[in-house]
Amino acid sequence: MTDAFEERITLETKDLSKRFDQKTIFNKLNLKIRYGKSIGIMGPSGTGKSVLLKCILGLMDYDGEILYKGKVLVKRNRKKVFDSFGMLFQGGALFDSLTIWQNIAFKLLNNEKKISKKDALKTVIGLLHSVGLNENVCNLMPEELSGGMQKRVALARAIADKPSLLFFDEPTTGLDPSTSFSINQLISSIVKKEGITSLVISHDPESIRKICDEVIFIENGSIGWQGSVSEMEKSNHKLLEDYLSPKKIT
Ligand SMILES: Nc1ncnc2c1ncn2[C@@H]1O[C@H](COP(=O)(O)OP(=O)(O)OP(=O)(O)O)[C@@H](O)[C@H]1O
Ligand SMILES: [Mg+2]
Repeated sequence: MTDAFEERITLETKDLSKRFDQKTIFNKLNLKIRYGKSIGIMGPSGTGKSVLLKCILGLMDYDGEILYKGKVLVKRNRKKVFDSFGMLFQGGALFDSLTIWQNIAFKLLNNEKKISKKDALKTVIGLLHSVGLNENVCNLMPEELSGGMQKRVALARAIADKPSLLFFDEPTTGLDPSTSFSINQLISSIVKKEGITSLVISHDPESIRKICDEVIFIENGSIGWQGSVSEMEKSNHKLLEDYLSPKKIT
């Protein structure tokens, strides 16, 4: 029996095509992100993972359609929809002229709900605890934190106003293996606990294994392979296999 809840689609691309001059990046790409699930996007460098994210976020033009909760995204409704998205940028990308608490509270203080500074601070402290930091960092500047701590702050900022869709762009890039491990754990527990629908772009199969339910492997402008994380481990799709366990050239 099909579970209607499971079948709800949060984000969908329909025949998404993108080209730069003569170079085709995507040719009629169709993908679906189901409600409450985490989908991982993998693929060799230059396949268009970042371009895909930029199209979804409306930062680049494209052909075809992108639908959010069944409605086609157009310029007119993007701003409102965008407000319900959270984004963890590659490298954290904190605002370097704002303190840690101002960074995390940024959306809270600038959205339509207009909560008070006092309530925002209370929320920020709760968020800091949920990412394994404490209020001592509130008045520090981003440059005073380590890379791993900055990622935690960026994650707190991304989830601050309870996004209905969360995007991660290379969440562990630039971190050492042990910090990567704890960031993957943290993202996984937050996404699963809150049931946040998410899209994770990552070079790091460990991030995908830890955070995602489903995986899409992009190859030559379309979906080369798609399946669950456990199916990925058993797949004998050649490029995916090489990607997961690269062989040394001797
Ligand atoms: N603004 C642009 N103008 C022209 N070509 C572009 C532009 N942005 C991206 N490209 C090209 O699109 C292709 C896909 O780029 P993209 O950055 O999405 O790759 P990627 O899969 O994210 O790679 P990586 O894993 O290295 O981050 C590349 O060949 C890139 O040169
Ligand atoms: Mg990229």
